[in-house]
Amino acid sequence: MLAAGTRVGEYVVGRRVAVGGTSDVYSGRHFTDGTQVAVKVLSPACCIQMDLVARFLNEAHVLRRLNHPGIVRAFDAGVLPEGGPYMVLEWLPMDLEQTLVREGGPLPVREGASVLAQLAAALGALHEQGVVHRDLKPANVLVARKDAEGIEVKLADLGLAKHQVPEGAAPVTLPVSTAGAALLGSLDYMAPEQWLDSKHVDARVDVYALGVLGFQLLAGRLPFAEGSETELMIRHLRMPPPMHLLGAEVPGALRSLVERMMAKRAAARPSLDEVRACVSSPVLR
Ligand SMILES: Nc1ncnc2c1ncn2[C@@H]1O[C@H](COP(=O)(O)OP(=O)(O)O)[C@@H](O)[C@H]1O
Ligand SMILES: [Mg+2]
Repeated sequence: MLAAGTRVGEYVVGRRVAVGGTSDVYSGRHFTDGTQVAVKVLSPACCIQMDLVARFLNEAHVLRRLNHPGIVRAFDAGVLPEGGPYMVLEWLPMDLEQTLVREGGPLPVREGASVLAQLAAALGALHEQGVVHRDLKPANVLVARKDAEGIEVKLADLGLAKHQVPEGAAPVTLPVSTAGAALLGSLDYMAPEQWLDSKHVDARVDVYALGVLGFQLLAGRLPFAEGSETELMIRHLRMPPPMHLLGAEVPGALRSLVERMMAKRAAARPSLDEVRACVSSPVLR
């Protein structure tokens, strides 16, 4: 664990604010201008696994290059004196998981639709760069603002992302071995094809996960929840989502969009452009 006061590049580390799947996140400040930031550090236990180090470096590389309003920004990245990699991110202390717990039920329809529109735009920007997120879930979505005017979110955590290199192009990210990683992603949001073969998936797994997240925002609960891992798999592979759990206030167009995003067959899912067009339609504003 990093001690408060540790200098990391141009930043001074404060307290640890979160422990993620593979990293620790600290608050931090720029040592001269005082700008508040988050310092994300690969957790020490993970630093001995080269594939996790490569994934972390790839995440930092992509986040530093992307400048999209719906994706968390990275200002800096490097290696700590102890050897582990770190990245410095814009400070966004609230995530969507915490927001949902605080809300204690579904988000207002207008906010749910707005989150879907923003995440569809952010995922679209990632896909354009040949990056599939593969781990979309509320804990990986940061909330920049939530007030009477609405909600603003930013996609985070590219730790499980798949980086596709266009044919003939030189790779800009490090190759990552997926040996041993039989399953990748969070079970509750995993598309049928991801359960069966998590390596050979494409951008459409992100559309499925966005559908599950949309369902969760509008129903206040996950479509497929209780049960063992096998039961969960069977539900994602075979069972239609329980759309009746969405309240009567959810317009039919939004309801059917969410259902189509969770189609078992990847080819039957809408594109992210379709998702954006649908959630931005006047019916939902
Ligand atoms: N930029 C940030 N500002 C503040 N807190 C953050 C920031 N990024 C992540 N966090 C918090 O840290 C947690 C873990 O970060 P995440 O990027 O998801 O790492 P991991 O890959 O270990 O899951 C998040 O769920 C969130 O609560
Ligand atoms: Mg995470």
